[in-house]
Amino acid sequence: MTRLSSNHLLGLKNLTPEDISLIFETADNFKAILNRPIKKVPSLRDITIANVFFENSTRTKISFELAEKRLSADIVNFSSSNSSVSKGETLIDTVNNILSMKVDMVVMRHPAPGAAQFLAQHVDAQIINAGDGTHEHPTQALLDAYSIRESRGSLKGKKVVIVGDILHSRVALSNIYCLQKLGAEVAVCGPPTLIPKYIEALGVSVTHNLEEAIEWCDVANMLRIQMERQDTKYFPSLREYTMQYGLTMEHLNSLKKEITVMHPGPINRGVEISSEVADSDQSIILNQVENGVAIRMAVLYLLAAQKEG
Ligand code: CP
Repeated sequence: MTRLSSNHLLGLKNLTPEDISLIFETADNFKAILNRPIKKVPSLRDITIANVFFENSTRTKISFELAEKRLSADIVNFSSSNSSVSKGETLIDTVNNILSMKVDMVVMRHPAPGAAQFLAQHVDAQIINAGDGTHEHPTQALLDAYSIRESRGSLKGKKVVIVGDILHSRVALSNIYCLQKLGAEVAVCGPPTLIPKYIEALGVSVTHNLEEAIEWCDVANMLRIQMERQDTKYFPSLREYTMQYGLTMEHLNSLKKEITVMHPGPINRGVEISSEVADSDQSIILNQVENGVAIRMAVLYLLAAQKEG
């Protein structure tokens, strides 16, 4: 297979295992290029991409920008904080104005779940979802699965636990879809108030006990508590959350095996993960960030090829 099954990347739910394999194969080639002295290729020389961010981002925004620059695309950056959105312009009008300046693709982060899908239905451009509220964050899940494959070999049969604020996490949902499509077993772990009630219907097992979770898993993906998305108190205090769900060296040293530790970032050192664990040999947090550029290059390259027919 040499083509993706979709003209947009909106989420992992609708990607096929073959799509994911194609993205990984393409990312392998780009990763090799990124390790060469000259990291730039002319693949997207005639393509213009708008990075449209209605929410803050460090990793995703920089990673997409670098991926686009390494592929020689022309880029424009839009952030809602210094735009005319504050004057009442709608999402569709904003994006259509950008597109009228001959833009081919839009990478969008937006706080509303479904915003990327909505945009794909209403504007004439290829849309890449860079995170839509609590819904999906597809390139994060792809780079996470790619990093697990790099660290532990094939995903098939691997046991991955996602720990923390599952309720507010777009990373968790995209990871669940992606990992299952690649044959991994997925569990979630966290306080009952931060685990959505429907989650078991996705074929995911649930535990509220971190010790039990890390005994079971090969890989622990530690998530941040998303204070900015919480309108109510889901646990008594951060200190108590850390006591029950913060991953420490004592946890890792208590195991008779080495697990791989991941985090999508931004990390809150001393809350969901101790500094020692984040900086340990078992952590692949910075490998995830590095792999993000190759994965995003692969996604942009393959989507551009769709348009060429
Ligand atoms: N992982 C992630 O999405 O990080 P940013 O919010 O910094 O982009």
